[in-house]
Order: sequence, then C-alpha cells, then structure tokens
Amino acid sequence: MAVEPSKTLDRVLVLEMVRVTEAAAIAASGLIGRGDEKAADAAAVEAMRAAFNDLDFDGTVVIGEGERDEAPMLYIGEKVGRGTGPRIDIALDPLEGTTITAKSGPNALAVLAIAEEGGLLNAPDVYMEKLAIGPGYARGLVGLDRTPTENVQALAKAKGVDSHEIIACVLDRPRHDKLIAELRQIGCGIMLIPDGDVAGVIAVTDPETTIDIYLGSGGAPEGVLAAAALACVGGQFQGRLLFRNEDERARARKWGVTDLDRVYQLEDLVKGDAIFAATGVTDGSLLQGVKRRPGCVSTESVVMRASSGTVRWVRGEHRKRKA
Ligand code: FBP
Repeated sequence: MAVEPSKTLDRVLVLEMVRVTEAAAIAASGLIGRGDEKAADAAAVEAMRAAFNDLDFDGTVVIGEGERDEAPMLYIGEKVGRGTGPRIDIALDPLEGTTITAKSGPNALAVLAIAEEGGLLNAPDVYMEKLAIGPGYARGLVGLDRTPTENVQALAKAKGVDSHEIIACVLDRPRHDKLIAELRQIGCGIMLIPDGDVAGVIAVTDPETTIDIYLGSGGAPEGVLAAAALACVGGQFQGRLLFRNEDERARARKWGVTDLDRVYQLEDLVKGDAIFAATGVTDGSLLQGVKRRPGCVSTESVVMRASSGTVRWVRGEHRKRKA
C-alpha cells in the first residue's frame, strides 16, 4: 500500500535513529552471556535515552519500558529529544531479548520505530496473537479469523507447494503446544524460537530465513515494532490483543482500546510514514551482533522507511579515541 512521505520524519532522522539503536546495542553487549537480564536491559535503556536526548526532535515514547510508576526511564509518555524540531511518536525496545542476551542466544536486538504523532498504536503491555507472512501474496490470503491449518494450506497453495514445505516460526512456549501439534499434524515445519519475536516476524520477509509464516502470541508492543518493519518492506501482519485477566483488560481500556476483540491490520498498528531501526546485540537472522575487539566495537544495523521502502544496512566501527 502506497504511503505518503512525511515532512516531519525528516531524512536526517533516518540515520540518527541508527545512532540511537547502536548506542543501546553497544551498551547491552557488555552484558552478553553474563546471566543478568536486568543489568543488560538497564544498560540499553540508559544508553538509548542518552542518545535520544542528544537529538533535535520533540519525541514522545508511546511504546516503551512500561508505565511511569514501573519504569524510571523511557516510560510511556516520557518526552525525549532536545524538544526542538519535529514532533514524533516513538515505539522502542532498547533490548528486545533480555533473556537471550543474558544467555548469549540468537536474535537480541535494540529496536525502535518512529512515526508522526498518533501514527503508532499505543499498545498496552499484554500479549498479542500474531500472524505474519512475507510480501507478494494477495491481501487477505491468511487471517486470524481462520485456523492455523487453513492459513498454512492457503499459503502453500499460493506458493505452489505442499503444506509439508511451509515453515512456520513459533515462540517455544507451553501456551503454543496446541498450535504446534496442529501444525505438525499437517506436516508443516516449525522453527521454534526461544525468544525474540520481533526478529521472528521480520524473518517472514526474508527468503534466506526460509520462514514462510509467523504464528502465535507474544508481546503486543513487540507486535507494533515488527509491524513497523513490515510497513517498510512489505508483507502482511495481523494482531489481536489477548487478555489474561480483568487488570489487563482495564489497562487496554486505559490506553483507549474500546473493542477488545479487534483484529488489527498492519495499517491500524502503523499509520502513514514510519521509520524502523534496529541494531543486532547478538547474532541473528536479521543482523549480526555487536563484536567487541580491543580498541574497536563493530555493529550491524538496519534502517528502513515506509514511504520509500528504502532499506539501509549500516555497518559501524566505533573506535576508542586515544587520549
Ligand atoms: P524480553 O526482551 O522482555 O525478554 O522479551 C522477549 C520476548 O521473547 C519477545 O520477543 C516476545 O514478544 C515476548 O518476550 C514473549 O513473552 P513471553 O516470554 O512471556 O512468552
């Protein structure tokens, strides 16, 4: 779907966003494999916030580290940037994959998306049922109103292959036992991931990963972040909020959700132009992780824009200046 370029999302911001995710990834990388999720997250949060506050824009965190009373930094509603320049909304996850980082597993990212004010769904911190496929398929080919079997069979037919040749990516969680059993029943291959469904969803857009479809539930904020990437590179995404109790329903209503059963299409989650940026913390399907060598730290990042569809891969070498 064609998206008009936003004057607010100035071109300069595209590369500035990479600096922000780089800073968070580098900070978190010092804690890879150290078994301390909280310390890794805190390092990424602090670095991302400092990098944002060095930029000339008037930013508001709409998806962040939590509500103000539970997150000291980058909480929902926090203003970031120098307060001058364009007004933008930000969805962020300074460390997507805290456990992955603590265990030195694959696919941890520092990630963010920006849009004009009101352009990103203020997703409450609840689960979201997610369904994603890559670009090139008829709109509505798959949907959350259909069973996983129906979706895999429709996708296989459109791809001209048998269901046995479809690979689904699913978070490895007991809550997905039924889904996994159903997919296995029809012979679908399953790539089970331990964590990190932002990278998992984006993987459907890259034929190299061999993943055809993403299915299952994960964090709603991560759903919006992944949808922002698909808004740039193409592909289909649907999400439906899942509530475990009344408290979560109340939280959603507080964020303005009136229809709790709504199926969100990609354009309901990310409206208009958007920029998505991510830097790898650990090696993964999307990006290489941070490599720390004496005197130099290297990073790999990706930044994309919805209106142009441009995807830039950025390799950074960050040298320690000699005194
Ligand atoms: P963290 O960065 O908070 O560790 O989240 C990682 C993650 O795997 C997300 O990618 C995913 O959306 C969510 O956790 C799934 O939640 P849960 O671990 O409760 O199944």
